[in-house]
Amino acid sequence: MKHNLCIVGYGGMGGWHANHALKSDVVNLLGIYDIKKERSELAEKNGIKAYSSFQEVLDDKNIEIITIATPNDIHKEQVIACLAAGKHVICEKPVTLSSKDLAEMIEASEKYQRIFTVHQNRRWDVDYLAMQKIHDSGQIGDIFNIESRIHGSRGIPSDWRGMKEYGGGMMFDWGVHLIDQILQIFATEKMISVYCEFDNISNDEVDDGFQLTLRFDNGARAYIEVGTYNFISLPRFYVQGKKGTGIITNWTEPCHIVECTHWHESEVVPVETAAGLTKTMAPRDEITTRSYDLEKPASDVHDFYRNICDSIEGKATQFVTHKELMRVMKTMEAAFESVERKSVIYFD
Ligand SMILES: NC(=O)c1ccc[n+]([C@@H]2O[C@H](COP(=O)([O-])OP(=O)(O)OC[C@H]3O[C@@H](n4cnc5c(N)ncnc54)[C@H](O)[C@@H]3O)[C@@H](O)[C@H]2O)c1
Repeated sequence: MKHNLCIVGYGGMGGWHANHALKSDVVNLLGIYDIKKERSELAEKNGIKAYSSFQEVLDDKNIEIITIATPNDIHKEQVIACLAAGKHVICEKPVTLSSKDLAEMIEASEKYQRIFTVHQNRRWDVDYLAMQKIHDSGQIGDIFNIESRIHGSRGIPSDWRGMKEYGGGMMFDWGVHLIDQILQIFATEKMISVYCEFDNISNDEVDDGFQLTLRFDNGARAYIEVGTYNFISLPRFYVQGKKGTGIITNWTEPCHIVECTHWHESEVVPVETAAGLTKTMAPRDEITTRSYDLEKPASDVHDFYRNICDSIEGKATQFVTHKELMRVMKTMEAAFESVERKSVIYFD
């Protein structure tokens, strides 16, 4: 049985959801609603019904699920209205702009007994899944550092993402994905502190990049960096465990791992530096290490909608939970506070 879906906001991401729904084995696209006439006209040109108002969407008894793909500042109001109208709701990320707003959205989901979740689609990214696998398998020992970076070279997009009133900025745009991934990896670890610095290279109103350090009570550190002025990119992921190191150079590459098979070396060949020889920083040889590429994990982003439909039918629980959403939101709030106070924020 397919569940009837409507998409609110037919822009870049609304278009993605629509194309995805048209190919879906679990949802049936009834239509879209967009405040802009030209977007509605485009939908109709693409053979998709355009509702004439948000109220018309809420009143349509055939719609079971609504996906909200509008700018970040209006998610809260639209999500609560949809839940109150008896619809299940998928909201685009970031779910909203504060933990207080999120608490109200969760409360509405509980009050109206409808599913409310967020499209954290980057949980299906194979680079992240490789990191999760390395962490869970213990193959390079206990992880003490993960660095997650994305680097662009075109500045922050010139649309609403550059404006504070719409919930713009790279923390809300990309940070939310990268924090969610790290918190999935360290799902059972307590976070003890957050430190963040923002870049404002072309935009003083919102961050056009940031550097964020999270520390966990098992001693692990996660470093997250988003840049929009990087004409040379650093690797997507770098992970250090007590028995090895992994690196993913870019989105399309597998994780390359060097495992330490023998800690003690009979002979270390020093490396020459400008100031003299060093054994401490000399690379290891192949006798004490093993190098290989990790097979890319399997992933199908259609599983997001499948999970929602199974949850509606009572056959599954929602994959992106309210508790996880709140943990991500509180981490982003701590990052903003850290920037504001120029200091580390400690959690009790
Ligand atoms: N999960 C992801 O990978 C991903 C990627 C991109 C964007 N997003 C998220 O999707 C959302 C939309 O981003 P986008 O890139 O599609 O932006 P966009 O500007 O391309 O599209 C937003 C659309 O919403 C419409 N809109 C604005 N106010 C509206 C209202 N009150 N009612 C109905 N429609 C309204 C606009 O006319 C526009 O067509 C944002 O929350 C963004 O963070 C998620």
